[in-house]
Amino acid sequence: MRCFAVGHIRLIEGAEGLMGNAKQAPMRRKPWPPDAVLDKPTPLQDARLFRNSVISPLRYPGAKRQLVPVIESLINANVPPPRLLLEPFCGGATTTLRLLGSGAVEHGILADVDPLIAAFWRTAAFDSKWLIDAMHEETISVARWDWWRAANPRGRRERALKCLFLNRTTFSGILHGRAGPIGGRAQKSDYKIDCRFGLEGLTRRIKGVADLASTGRLLDVWEADWRTALGNLSSKFKMLDPGEIVVYLDPPYVDKAQWLYEWSFDSTEHTDLAAWLASDTRYAWLLSYDDNQSIRGLYKNRPAESVLHVSHTYTAAGSVTRTVRDELLVTNLTVIPPSKRYRLLKTDEAG
Ligand SMILES: C[S@@+](CC[C@H](N)C(=O)[O-])C[C@H]1O[C@@H](n2cnc3c(N)ncnc32)[C@H](O)[C@@H]1O
Repeated sequence: MRCFAVGHIRLIEGAEGLMGNAKQAPMRRKPWPPDAVLDKPTPLQDARLFRNSVISPLRYPGAKRQLVPVIESLINANVPPPRLLLEPFCGGATTTLRLLGSGAVEHGILADVDPLIAAFWRTAAFDSKWLIDAMHEETISVARWDWWRAANPRGRRERALKCLFLNRTTFSGILHGRAGPIGGRAQKSDYKIDCRFGLEGLTRRIKGVADLASTGRLLDVWEADWRTALGNLSSKFKMLDPGEIVVYLDPPYVDKAQWLYEWSFDSTEHTDLAAWLASDTRYAWLLSYDDNQSIRGLYKNRPAESVLHVSHTYTAAGSVTRTVRDELLVTNLTVIPPSKRYRLLKTDEAG
C-alpha cells in the first residue's frame, strides 16, 4: 500500500473542527491523479456524518436516497469493495457520498454535464473553506435570489455559490428558470426563503465532502456529458481491471425532466444510453429510473441484464400521508441475491 503524498499541501486555517480535537488531515486542494485509485483511503475525520440519511449539501429532485441500501447490497454481493465508482449523472450525489462514507466502495468520481453542479462538487471537495466562508456572507432574500438567478458567472467558485444558493432557496431545489423562491415572491408562507439554508448543517455536510476528498476517497469531479465520462473510464483508468469498476447511472426523468434540470434527456438520449450500455459491458453498472413503460420496453429481452422493480414508501416534506414510489434498477451484475426489497422482472416483462 502506498501512502498519499500530502506533505506539500497547505493546511487551511479554519478547516478544523470536524471531530472536536481530532487531528485534522491536510485539506486536499486539487483532484487526485488517476493512479491514486490504487491507494487505500486514509481514515475519515468524521465517519458519524455518513450514518445520517441526509448527507448531501444539495437538495435534488429525484434523489435516490431510498435506493442506496439496495445498490450497496448488490455491489457487496458482486464486487466487494470496488476500487472505483463513477456517477455520471451525479446531481445531489447522495449515492456516491453514502457508499464512499460507508466504505462500500473505495474511491469515487462525480460527473455531471451541468456546469453549476460540477463547479459545486469540485469546490465543496477541494476548496471547501472558500465555499463555507462565502456561504456565510450571503444574504438570503428574494432580492438576492433574483440577483443569482440573473447572474451568469464564468468562474468555478461563483458557479458553485450560485448552485448552492439557488438549490437551497428555490422550490424543490430546482435550478431551472421556471421555479420560484421558497415561500413565494411575497414571502407570505410559513416557509420562508431561508428555511432550507441552515448554515450549521450545510457547513457540516460540505466539510463531509471535503473529508471524503482529503482522505483520498473522492478523487475527482468532472464537468462532462455521460458519453465523455464513460469514455474517460477506459482512457484514464487503464491500470484497473474492469471488474474493479462500478458505474451508477441515474439519468434525468423521462416525463418531467425539462421542468427540473437545466440539462434534460429527449427520448433519443434514453435510447442511446441503453444502446451504449448493451455494447460497453466491461465494467459493472447499475441504472435507476422511475418505473415507466417506455424504459421497461428499452431494457426488456436483454439476457445479460437484470431488471429489478423496487417499491418503497416515503413521506414528502410537509405531508402526513405516505406515498408509494416505484423504481426500476437495471444492472449487468450477475449475482442478484433474493430480497424483500425488490422483485426481479422476467426478461420479457414489459408491464
Ligand atoms: C435524476 S438527476 C440525478 C439525481 C442524483 N442521482 C441524486 O441523487 O441527486 C439527473 C442529473 O443528470 C444531469 N444530466 C442531464 N443530462 C446529462 C448528460 N447528457 N450527461 C451528464 N449528466 C446529465 C442533470 O444535470 C442532473 O443533475
